[in-house]
Amino acid sequence: MTVSPAIEADVLRRQDPELADVLLGERERQSTTLQLIAAENFTSPAVLAALGSPLANKYAEGYPGARHHGGCEIADVAERLAVDRARDLFGADHANVQAHSGSSAVLAAYAALLRPGDTVLALGLPHGGHLTHGSPANFSGRWFDFVGYGVEAESGLIDHEQVRTLARTRRPKAIVCGSIAYPGTWTTRSSARSPTRWARISSRTPRIPSGWWPGERRRTRCRTRTSSARRPTRCCGGRAAA
Ligand SMILES: Cc1ncc(COP(=O)(O)O)c(C=O)c1O
Repeated sequence: MTVSPAIEADVLRRQDPELADVLLGERERQSTTLQLIAAENFTSPAVLAALGSPLANKYAEGYPGARHHGGCEIADVAERLAVDRARDLFGADHANVQAHSGSSAVLAAYAALLRPGDTVLALGLPHGGHLTHGSPANFSGRWFDFVGYGVEAESGLIDHEQVRTLARTRRPKAIVCGSIAYPGTWTTRSSARSPTRWARISSRTPRIPSGWWPGERRRTRCRTRTSSARRPTRCCGGRAAA
């Protein structure tokens, strides 16, 4: 793992030596201990430099070419570049790169697809789901009616029969396919028989399946089945959150 060899600490040290020591302390901790949290990203020095650039000063509400503030021409170039790269990476027709983290990306997807109180199926936390999959400690568990599905005891793989039964009985507005820790590959095999239309809200997983890298077309795309759904189900339209 590469940890940035140098923090631009001189300026900070002159201004705020106490905070400079905190930053250096964290650099020391990361450099000398083993990090095993799958969700953490140890960025390159180049990414760290970009995060601390003057772009961080800029107020740029809206979208490239349609901002609410002046002076956004450089921010627009940066955002368009990020959108193009995200579209390439996921083989997507559209990408929104304005979410700041996985959780806010998931929140954006839920806000687009659901209404408060809607029922949603997601991988249960003890089976590898994430806090955003309905934990009471998270907005998802407070705002929506989450029902957890799980993995088969023997194989450790998603129990598709259970997903199917839950989809039939609970009639969710969306089924979240994603995990924080799942060793298998996500498939949509049960979606074809699901009584609900699938809104595939794909969230971050430590294991990136092939087909997700630039130049490759993503194989598993959002399914919008028009099966026997009794009530309208919203769909993310092929865009993956997170
Ligand atoms: C599936 C899933 N959703 C959401 C998140 C939250 O991401 P963030 O910590 O960037 O908000 C994670 C983080 O690991 C995740 O694995």
